[in-house]
Amino acid sequence: MLAPQPAAARPVAPAAGLSSPLLAVNNIEVRYQGSILVLKNVSLTVNRGEIVALLGSNGAGKTTTLKSISSLIQDEEGRVSEGQILFEDQAVHNHDPVATVRRGLVQVMEGRRVLEHLSVEQNLIVASAPIRSASRAQLRESLDQVYGIFPILAEFRQRESGYLSGGQQQMLVIGRALMAKPRLLLLDEPSLGLSPLLVSRIFESIAQINRELGTSILLVEQNARVALGVAARGYVLENGRIVMEGSRDELLGNDDLREFYLGMSADGRRKSFKDVKQYRRRRRWLG
Ligand SMILES: Nc1ncnc2c1ncn2[C@@H]1O[C@H](COP(=O)(O)OP(=O)(O)OP(=O)(O)O)[C@@H](O)[C@H]1O
Ligand SMILES: [Mg+2]
Repeated sequence: MLAPQPAAARPVAPAAGLSSPLLAVNNIEVRYQGSILVLKNVSLTVNRGEIVALLGSNGAGKTTTLKSISSLIQDEEGRVSEGQILFEDQAVHNHDPVATVRRGLVQVMEGRRVLEHLSVEQNLIVASAPIRSASRAQLRESLDQVYGIFPILAEFRQRESGYLSGGQQQMLVIGRALMAKPRLLLLDEPSLGLSPLLVSRIFESIAQINRELGTSILLVEQNARVALGVAARGYVLENGRIVMEGSRDELLGNDDLREFYLGMSADGRRKSFKDVKQYRRRRRWLG
């Protein structure tokens, strides 16, 4: 009779895809033009189904982090010079950005770039190009999914997108990203330049995308308050380094973050701009 093999002696199936994070950024260093060092030792993870916030003030390196993950830094002669970025356990740093989109990793760029002379629906259809194998029925289904999240886009589907308001254009760029069926969406400052009402509308949609489509999201924001309204965890980036990380409650309870990024003093009262002198330039945090 064969003795049962001890568990440790059995070949262990790789845990790929289950226990490992969906995205793992491991100690990356990023340079532009081969010399300008912008990110140093940046590590972060996004698990399946999570919304994670990446917070930081102007020039901290938030956009560079997202573009390193999507490989779009290459357009600006940027390169991951140390460390690695794993998406579903595969290295994706310094890769072909279109192949990265096909893998299910899609970035929404800062600044709402729509194809202004095309209609809303044409913008959405063009954005599905990276997944060319989509049939007409799949295309229809993707459009309906986007229109389900953003009903105003369905109403304006024939409208030239250059005539949309800022908030509607933000919805359209997120909708365009959804057409590529992402498993991980990288969102760069979706609140930028929008009224508080529109910001809350956009963030409701971000939560809905996560909940209903199961899309994981890495959300870059200067507006820590709105970001931590939807994200369960977050990281704070300063001068190209991660200086703080934690759960929503840990971050919201941290005095430094409260004081300097949310404009609240330790006793929970709103701080005035005058009290936060050395951080006055970070006005956008305090909105
Ligand atoms: N193409 C580039 N070439 C050289 N340096 C760059 C380039 N793009 C960005 N940088 C520099 O890298 C640093 C980080 O910029 P990045 O755009 O990543 O910051 P950010 O956190 O997104 O800022 P913001 O909140 O203003 O969007 C800045 O010092 C910036 O000047
Ligand atoms: Mg940026």
